[in-house]
Amino acid sequence: MALIPYGRQFVDDEDITAVVKTLKSDWLTTGPMVEKFEKSICDYIGAKHAVAVNSGTSALDIAVGALELPEGSEIITTPFTFAASANCIIYNNHKPVFADIESATCNIDPEKIRKKITKKTKAIIYVDYGGQPCDIETLRELAEEKDLYLIEDASHALGATYNGKKVGTFADMTEFSFHPVKHITTGEGGAITTDNDGLAEKLRILRTHGIDKSDGAKKKFAGADYAYDMLMLGRNYRITDMQCALGLSQMKKLDLFLKRRREIVKQYNDELSSSIADLKIPSIIDGRESAWHLYTVLLPKDVSRDHVFRKMRESGIGVNVHYIPTYKFSYYQKNFNFKDNDYPVTEEVFSRILTLPLYYGMNDNDIDRVVDALKRSIDSVKECM
Ligand SMILES: Cc1ncc(COP(=O)(O)O)c(C=O)c1O
Repeated sequence: MALIPYGRQFVDDEDITAVVKTLKSDWLTTGPMVEKFEKSICDYIGAKHAVAVNSGTSALDIAVGALELPEGSEIITTPFTFAASANCIIYNNHKPVFADIESATCNIDPEKIRKKITKKTKAIIYVDYGGQPCDIETLRELAEEKDLYLIEDASHALGATYNGKKVGTFADMTEFSFHPVKHITTGEGGAITTDNDGLAEKLRILRTHGIDKSDGAKKKFAGADYAYDMLMLGRNYRITDMQCALGLSQMKKLDLFLKRRREIVKQYNDELSSSIADLKIPSIIDGRESAWHLYTVLLPKDVSRDHVFRKMRESGIGVNVHYIPTYKFSYYQKNFNFKDNDYPVTEEVFSRILTLPLYYGMNDNDIDRVVDALKRSIDSVKECM
């Protein structure tokens, strides 16, 4: 039987036509589709600026860069995320500091952040795990009290809401990813939204080598028409017009994608909550609406997650584990002094968590196959014990 992956894109003929049309146009990169895609993101979220780049990782890198913090600043983030959430701190010659998570949501715990703040702390990068927003109000209060910048890693949370408002304008900058397993895709791609004009300008400059082509920049070279200046050490993180044509076309379907994800989650919740003893399904906090990038369960404590994982894969179900905590990776162990037992909640959640498939194109039969395989896998593991 065909493998049911944990996530995948949905691309239709309308998307393909949009990409082909752009391929036949004059602009393959830095053209009109980039601005159109950015405008569609702004309109959807209600943000003033969106800067599209070639990946979510690039977006995080230049978001940290745009803050222009003193070298060696400390930035606090969660260890229970994809490596990119902390790597962006190191790219910019700063120090990642991890704060433990809350077990109910797997999001960073504001009280644990408070304990990690030092004189060198300059920013917090919080991740809306699985698509459910963090405790944003508390994070904003803490940031204000301690004079810290906030970057929201909303790679999982395009379309999520907090107190009825879309994620994308709560932090100084919010990052999104358009990798194929996410809500919409551009193949690879990402964006940063912000309401801050100065940060938006820096992000645009950093996206393209740090180059500024404005009249002000030309002055340095006696106002010559050909002139431009390089103001910051930027990168080439530009996204192509073909990708943006795809993204723009996908944005039209975003609400449909989110609706189907929510239906699948409801079905999983209904079928799993009563049928498997001690299985913990995701908790949703009042006032927060998840965008449901991931559907994760915590397996019963007496069951080996790794055994269930193997059984599920043998049954053709592409389960996954989100995430191996970042502090466990060799690179982090070699270069920093993180200790597993400083993060007891992350350790406990990591030992039990399993991601079940969730994507727009899943049909009811696929959902039944996943639920059935999970029940059988857990039973078979228990029988071996
Ligand atoms: C939480 C988180 N942050 C950042 C990223 C990086 O995004 P991208 O793969 O678009 O570079 C991902 C990607 O999966 C992610 O899950």
